[in-house]
Amino acid sequence: MNTIYFDNNATTRVAPEVLDEMLPYLEGFYGNPSSMHTFGGQLYRKVEEARSRVAQLVGAEPEEIIFTSCGTESDNTAIMSSVESSPGKRHIITTRVEHPAVLNFCKHLSRKGFRVTFVPVNNYGQMNIEELLKVIDDDTALVSIMYANNETGVIFPVAEIGEILKKRRILFHTDAVQAVGKIPIDVKTLPVDMLSLSGHKLHAPKGIGTLYVRKGTRFYPFMIGGHQERGRRAGTENVASIIGLGKACELASKNLGNEVTYLKGLRDKLETALIKLCPDVRVNGDINSRLPNTTNLSFEYVEGEAILLRLNEYGICASSGSACTSGSLEPSHVLRAMGVPFTAIHGSIRFSLSRYNTAEEIDRVIEIMPGVIKELRLLSPFGRDKLGQVKCS
Ligand SMILES: Cc1ncc(COP(=O)(O)O)c(C=O)c1O
Repeated sequence: MNTIYFDNNATTRVAPEVLDEMLPYLEGFYGNPSSMHTFGGQLYRKVEEARSRVAQLVGAEPEEIIFTSCGTESDNTAIMSSVESSPGKRHIITTRVEHPAVLNFCKHLSRKGFRVTFVPVNNYGQMNIEELLKVIDDDTALVSIMYANNETGVIFPVAEIGEILKKRRILFHTDAVQAVGKIPIDVKTLPVDMLSLSGHKLHAPKGIGTLYVRKGTRFYPFMIGGHQERGRRAGTENVASIIGLGKACELASKNLGNEVTYLKGLRDKLETALIKLCPDVRVNGDINSRLPNTTNLSFEYVEGEAILLRLNEYGICASSGSACTSGSLEPSHVLRAMGVPFTAIHGSIRFSLSRYNTAEEIDRVIEIMPGVIKELRLLSPFGRDKLGQVKCS
C-alpha cells in the first residue's frame, strides 16, 4: 500500500536533491570545518555557501544567519537572548497559540520570576493587535509571535506588529518555522529582530535549524562553549545537515511562486469537496490569511483519533487536534484558545500538503473520507438525529 502523506506540518520528506548534496559529507568528507588542514577546512566554505543560500531565501545577509540544532533551539535562543540582553526588564509577551517551543519556554521563565503575557486570539485564530497594544509596557523585553500557526496555518500580521514594536524599541522575534519555504518572507522589509526556521519543515533533514538575528541586535548565545558560529552558537557544526538545509532553501527560493499556487489549488479542492460531501464540517482558522498547504477541519460527532486510525488503514497520514494523538493528553491548546467547541475540537483533523502531493492523492482522500465519517457517526450516539438517522449523507 502506498503511503499518502498529508502531515507535512509535522515533518517533510527530505528532497532527493538535498540528500544527494549531503551524502558526500556523511561519507568521505567527514572533517571538522574548524580544522587548519585542507581536509577539514574545505568544509568551512561549504558551510558558508549553505549560510548564503539560507540567507537568500529570507532576504538576510549571510552573517545574520546562525545555525542551530532545530526550530526549538532557535526559539529558546531568541527568547533567552532577549531577556539576557535586557537587564532590568522582566516582561515577555507572546500568544496563547504558539508552538510549545515558545509557549513552554515562556512558562518556564514565568516560573523563574519573569512576567509573561499570553495574548488571546479570536474565533478565527487571528490576533487582535489592540490586545497586544494593551499589554506592552516599559518592562517589556520581548514580543515573540509566530508567523504562521502549525495547527491551523493562520498567518499573523507580523509586519504590522513589527512596525509598532520598532517604534517602541522592543525586541521582536517571530517563530517562522511553518512559514519559511511555504510563503515568501523577506527580512529586508519585515521589521523583525529575530526569526526562527527549521530544516525538516522544508525538505531538509531533522535536527537542523537557523536563527536569523538582524545586524545590530543585542545577542547572547544560548549554547556556550567553542567559537563556532562566530561565538554565537557553540558546538561542532552539523555539516551534512547544514549543507542539506542550504540546498533545501535554494530549492524553495526557486520553486516558491509555483508551489504556493499548486498547494493552494490542491488544498482548496480537498477542503471544498469534504465540506460538500460531509455535513457538519467546519474549517478552523482564518481562511483569508492562511498558509497555502494547510487545512484544519472539524467533523462534528466523531473523534479525531478514530478518523486518523481509519485513514491510517488506507495508508493516509494526517494529524488531529484531539487528545493523545500528539503525545499530549490535552486537546489542542490552539483550538481551545480559539474557542472551538469541545465536540468540534475532538473531531478535528489537519491535512498539511507538500510539493510531493498529487491531485490523485487528493482524489483518493475525497473518495474515502465521506464513508469513514459516515461509518464513525453511525457508531457515535451523537452522530444520529432524533430519528436515529446518521447525520452524514
Ligand atoms: C511553529 C513551530 N515552531 C517550532 C517548532 C519546533 O521545530 P523543531 O521540530 O525543529 O524543533 C515546530 C515544529 O513542529 C513548529 O511547528
